[in-house]
Amino acid sequence: MAKMWAGRTDGALNKEADDFNSSISFDKKMYKEDICGSIAHAAMLAAKGIIGKEDADKITSGLESIFSDIENGALEISSDAEDIHMFIEAELIKRIGDAGKKLHTARSRNDQVALDLRMYLKEKCKIISGLIYNLLNVIADKAEENVGVIMPGYTHLQRAQPILFSHHMLAYAEMFKRDLSRLKDAYKRMNVSPLGSCALAGTTYDTDREMVAVKLGFDGVCSNSMDGVSDRDFCAELLSVFSIIMMHLSRFSEEIIIWTSWEFRFMELSDDFTTGSSIMPQKKNSDMAELIRGKTGRVYGDLMGILTVLKGLPLAYNKDMQEDKEGVFDGAETVEKSLAVFAPMLAGAKVLSENMYEAAKKGFINATDMADYLTKKGMPFRTAYKTVGEIVGKCVKEGKTLEDISLDEYKSISSLFEEDIYNAISLETCVEKRISQGGTGSISVKKQLSELRKYLKNEKGV
Ligand code: ARG
Repeated sequence: MAKMWAGRTDGALNKEADDFNSSISFDKKMYKEDICGSIAHAAMLAAKGIIGKEDADKITSGLESIFSDIENGALEISSDAEDIHMFIEAELIKRIGDAGKKLHTARSRNDQVALDLRMYLKEKCKIISGLIYNLLNVIADKAEENVGVIMPGYTHLQRAQPILFSHHMLAYAEMFKRDLSRLKDAYKRMNVSPLGSCALAGTTYDTDREMVAVKLGFDGVCSNSMDGVSDRDFCAELLSVFSIIMMHLSRFSEEIIIWTSWEFRFMELSDDFTTGSSIMPQKKNSDMAELIRGKTGRVYGDLMGILTVLKGLPLAYNKDMQEDKEGVFDGAETVEKSLAVFAPMLAGAKVLSENMYEAAKKGFINATDMADYLTKKGMPFRTAYKTVGEIVGKCVKEGKTLEDISLDEYKSISSLFEEDIYNAISLETCVEKRISQGGTGSISVKKQLSELRKYLKNEKGV
């Protein structure tokens, strides 16, 4: 098929080259953005007297009919087309004739594609923002429902100190709050219209770029036409944000995978978020969490992909940039689907609080508190640390916990030990005394929770 850009050449491409050159298989997703962008452009051309009002009206109704035909299935986007921009323009000319040929005045595919991509990704940002917001609500509910549940906190995946399960949940809330703020920030920077940059140098027509930008919901326009068509920072920035969201989801998923193992049994997922094995009848696998952990890798790959595509490109547009879309679409869709699965999976998960408590009782996670007890009674911390270390070693040898040692025995180790030692090292005391700001004591955790609720009330998202 001869190309619309035939002229300088006859436009007939070698078959392999034609397939290689085509981006329709993935940029067809942007048909709505392409049509909206063109309608706004045509309105501006008419307002500035660059094309006649009648032609603009024909263009608008032609584009609207193309849009509804695509939406209702009457018009199929042809896989033979070079890209979505060419497909829609050719279809418009087919429908309205010569007026359609005026649409591309004072515009190039270079600024057109840059516009469409920003518009498409802006919508994705809104969806992802809503999904993060929803997840934050689920986390807040999970934290609230389980205030009082004590579990072991870990460092090096070794039992470290007792914590509240809610405290652990609220740590993730902080991560997703930052993710939302990063997304909003990236959105703000990408929310400027490149249309009117034309091929690279701007245009001799007296256009009104601001008018198009306002019509399409942008905050303003890109200031430099060469940057307008070359900039794909927003793809790299969004993929960085997506990568960090996935990294957080992956860490959370990893914990859920561990917690739902028979060795831990801290959590049980609802049946509709787990799978069985084709051979082992006893299995209940946390596949969704594993998939999220796995899919994190592909989003990182998408980020590396765009950075590498861009790194050697001279200004302005280069066809390499056609490689921007698949990665950023994939990244956005992966984050969207992962968040959409993760939130209800967490919401329906059962917290097995007794198992958590049992695990917290073992492993000497109150040893720090015993050292603090001695320190508060006058022993230098380093000496107390060593003394308690020796007691733990003795317990391990004798198969005992710190609570099992008699007061007489404690007294023979140090005269500072008194009856109140048992209360000082109870899990409840260990948790409740940690009311430093951001600490795990329930007073502090409840404060964090109410801060989160307040945040959720005021947060509008992207
Ligand atoms: N399909 C192209 C892309 O995605 C559209 C822009 C084409 N511009 C050009 N000068 N060939 O980048």
